[in-house]
Amino acid sequence: VTIKFIEHNGTEHTISAETEQSVMQAALSANIPGIDADCGGACACATCHTYIDAPWASKFSPPEVLEQDLLECALEVTSSSRLSCQLHLTEELDGLVVHLPASQ
Ligand code: FES
Repeated sequence: VTIKFIEHNGTEHTISAETEQSVMQAALSANIPGIDADCGGACACATCHTYIDAPWASKFSPPEVLEQDLLECALEVTSSSRLSCQLHLTEELDGLVVHLPASQ
């Protein structure tokens, strides 16, 4: 699937990623700047914070309690905030647009 990451400064990176991985893993393999993912995807660090806007937001399962709690530790959280390690890629997500925060 194709994913477009847009940095806070507007720089765009379009990558192609395999399904069966998380948005965080796809970003790390493509060296996308701005995703630290310190905990390696265990939903324990909140440094994989991203923003997912409509219409894409509704294509993911809503955040579980653990993700909701951890998001409170992220900076500049909005209603579009998600932890990208909890976002699993499927074919349906081809063309996904992910916005990156100014910092983690
Ligand atoms: Fe740590 Fe997502 S990588 S919470």
